Amino acid sequence: MKKQAPFLYILILLSTLSCNNSPKQAADMPNNDGQKKWWKEAVVYQIYPRSFKDSDGDGVGDLKGLTGKLDYVKSLGVDIVWLNPIYGSPNADNGYDISNYDDIMKEFGTMADFDVMLGEMHKRGLKLVMDLVVNHCSDEHEWFKQSRSSRTNPYRNYFHWWPAEKGKPAFRPGSFEVDGSGWRFDSLTNSYYLHYFSYKQPDLNWENPKLRQEIYAMMNRWFKKGVDGFRMDVIPFISKDTTFPVITEAELKEKYNGAWDQYMASGPTLHNHLQEMNKEVLSKYDVMTLAEGAGTTKATAMNLVDPDRKELDMSYHFEGVSLGYLPGEFKQMDPAGYKLTEFKKIYSDWDSVFADKGWGTVYLGNHDQPRMLTRWGNDAPEFREASSTMLTTFLLSMRGTPFYYFGDELGMSNIKFDKIDDYRDIESISMYEQIKNKGGDLQRFLNGQKIGARDNSRTPFQWDASANAGFTTSTPWLKINDNKKEINVEAEEKNPNSTLHYFRKMVKLRKDNKDMLVYGRYTLLDKNNPDVYAYTREANGEKVLVLLSFSKNGGAFNLDKMQLGEEWINNQQPLKVNGNTISLQPYQACIIKLKTSAP
Ligand code: GLC
Repeated sequence: MKKQAPFLYILILLSTLSCNNSPKQAADMPNNDGQKKWWKEAVVYQIYPRSFKDSDGDGVGDLKGLTGKLDYVKSLGVDIVWLNPIYGSPNADNGYDISNYDDIMKEFGTMADFDVMLGEMHKRGLKLVMDLVVNHCSDEHEWFKQSRSSRTNPYRNYFHWWPAEKGKPAFRPGSFEVDGSGWRFDSLTNSYYLHYFSYKQPDLNWENPKLRQEIYAMMNRWFKKGVDGFRMDVIPFISKDTTFPVITEAELKEKYNGAWDQYMASGPTLHNHLQEMNKEVLSKYDVMTLAEGAGTTKATAMNLVDPDRKELDMSYHFEGVSLGYLPGEFKQMDPAGYKLTEFKKIYSDWDSVFADKGWGTVYLGNHDQPRMLTRWGNDAPEFREASSTMLTTFLLSMRGTPFYYFGDELGMSNIKFDKIDDYRDIESISMYEQIKNKGGDLQRFLNGQKIGARDNSRTPFQWDASANAGFTTSTPWLKINDNKKEINVEAEEKNPNSTLHYFRKMVKLRKDNKDMLVYGRYTLLDKNNPDVYAYTREANGEKVLVLLSFSKNGGAFNLDKMQLGEEWINNQQPLKVNGNTISLQPYQACIIKLKTSAP
């Protein structure tokens, strides 16, 4: 069996490139199902707690630091904070390996700090969405320690074990392992255990009702504390065919588009478990749930979020963020970049998936992705502000809840490390070792990581221009980007034209015009235009035109019969209109009310 590259990227890349389902055209669709909800109208701001603000000088962000910066968060106009895992963890994968679900990671503080933080968020009208990591836990969790101690331990079936006397188990990928295998041999009981990520992250056995009850009880405890929702880490992977049949490449190709992540997301009991979770936990509270939709496609995503099925509220797909990588290689960008026409098609098709019911999301960056500016815009100094604000305009003018990653409002960019020693991420480090062992091209790998590595977006937040950017008083856990000198909160607060102020303006515009910008019908225009992403949003008989130049050459858009009215926002004055043609400046973005109902 062919080995798989780390994490979800190659798996996802393959799975998302093609999909048999062809959604209906947005233009034929009525508006969404009309059910208004607070989480549809919200702007979510994701904070990577390790890198936001260090209050005790150990170089690691913490909850007290975050609490002290809530006025800043509030000032952005966002509604919900999604916080990456803050639970007890030995940190093999920065908190995505949980050793105690009811505790706070020592580096981040205490439960008392958490209670204060939550109270302060609620005082300011901010909601808190936590990360729920229940496909796997840490090998240092008490459950696993018990489980591995003997074959008859009561916790044995909390995990997936394969007795060695049955021979080697059938291949499953282990994303963060140098040998690519998702099984690890444990001599203590002469058995293998399953881990889809690193061996420090054993997969939980959701077929065991006792385990499920433990998870639900834990979720209930957090909801009773007052948290407002969960982002559910690789939730589509929780169900497994526990006979662990051999999967041939031919089968994988035929049924799952050649992609392991699609196989992993199609476990036989996934939807039973989610419906049970909804019944036993989620239905009791007015909370928000978001699936990390790994392995889901346009054909399967609705099953997670269809309100009639009573599972989850929203999901996020990987098709958009996978665009532009070369197939079959680990995060190597196509030297030609990505095609805007393909980008437009992806986001338009996904919009139409949820046009009738369910609800979508939109994001361009998070802790698993590089900085959106470097990946989707242009981080050269002359284009930084324009392309950042253009991408912000896109995210906040699409239908679907926007998930906005901290620091993108400042125009933070990839740090682009030269050496493997600078990386802290298990994914980069294990992949480097894998390539080294195979005698592969390490320089090529490092060059690719300058664009694709996850640590690019995990560098500390830039509060000011000082040596440690106001993040810490000691050595930060991950290097700080040198561009903190120009790109930082202090400087941008003072500059009325900064990307920071633009973000606030755009958030306000979305919130002041919810019918149009949150719920309104989306229609793609001029789909073959290689430089300009143009679309309309429409509600209550009114329409706005959104024009986004994704090119350093600007771009042109033909108005046809449309007549421009009031300009709602424009990242670069003026808007050059000559007859029917609008000539956009490089990375120009604007939203303009239309006078007529064409096109
Ligand atoms: C998710 C997380 C990622 C983590 C992985 C394993 O994809 O977003 O950061 O490494 O799951 O938990």
